[in-house]
Amino acid sequence: MTIVTLVGCGKMGSAMVRGWVASKVADTIYVIEPSGLPGDLQNMAEVELVEQTLPSDIIVLAVKPQMMDAVCRTLAPGTATILSIAAGQKIANFEKYFGDTHPVIRAMPNTPAAIGEGMTVAVANKNVTPGIRNIADRLLRATGRVEWIDDETLMDAVTALSGSGPAYVFYLIEVLAKAGEASGLAPVFAMSLARQTVIGSAALAGYDAETPAETLRQNVTSPGGTTEAALNVLMDGRMQDLFSEALNAATSRSKELSK
Ligand SMILES: NC(=O)c1ccc[n+]([C@@H]2O[C@H](COP(=O)([O-])OP(=O)(O)OC[C@H]3O[C@@H](n4cnc5c(N)ncnc54)[C@H](OP(=O)(O)O)[C@@H]3O)[C@@H](O)[C@H]2O)c1
Repeated sequence: MTIVTLVGCGKMGSAMVRGWVASKVADTIYVIEPSGLPGDLQNMAEVELVEQTLPSDIIVLAVKPQMMDAVCRTLAPGTATILSIAAGQKIANFEKYFGDTHPVIRAMPNTPAAIGEGMTVAVANKNVTPGIRNIADRLLRATGRVEWIDDETLMDAVTALSGSGPAYVFYLIEVLAKAGEASGLAPVFAMSLARQTVIGSAALAGYDAETPAETLRQNVTSPGGTTEAALNVLMDGRMQDLFSEALNAATSRSKELSK
């Protein structure tokens, strides 16, 4: 019997509840959300809108980071493990409110979680029992893949890679389309080709998950062909430098925001 409370049923919170309902990982899901439940969750037998915390195994905090202190000040978790998905909110922040013997998990999901294709990285403090960690893992897995780390300081780099990463891929669609336009394709046509190419390549990488990305790339590249001509430009080091610089900038910003 797993009882979960969700605080904040916005974009990320509601995506998680949908995943929990679909995968039946929780028997009861209490939701605290001033705006009420989204329409599709209102008639779910296991989902109940409540005003304050009731005894639960895990309380998932999915409010905006700037709301977190206000939420923590009024929260009475009892023995429930705190699982926060808020960007930049350190485990120590929750220990400050609930005590350093309280079990706390910090997780960083990303937006593809909304369609069950998320990448979440989680870190637990020393008070989280293997049983609760297992429940947390199943809750997070309901929206995609999960990796656990031991070193919380890596969360800034994680945020920079998988947290912000979907935006880089969407930008890749934009630059591919713009480059296609520059080669003479009509804008709508170029965008359609760029978008489906990214969708199809991502699906292929997922389908062929054991094959390294490098091999998938080589499979498209015949010696002396068109792909090789393009890759000779893309792989001259500038793109790697640009991405390294971008991730450094995001990592630094994440560090600043979590001060
Ligand atoms: N979206 C992402 O890509 C992403 C990725 C990784 C992590 N996250 C983290 O996920 C968290 C939620 O992000 P989001 O995009 O889902 O934000 P969101 O859509 O704004 O959802 C937050 C929800 O919390 C509600 N809320 C505000 N105050 C509350 C309170 N005191 N008690 C209960 N609920 C309250 C808000 O209601 P009102 O609208 O009525 O104020 C809103 O429905 C953030 O901390 C963010 O850092 C998001």
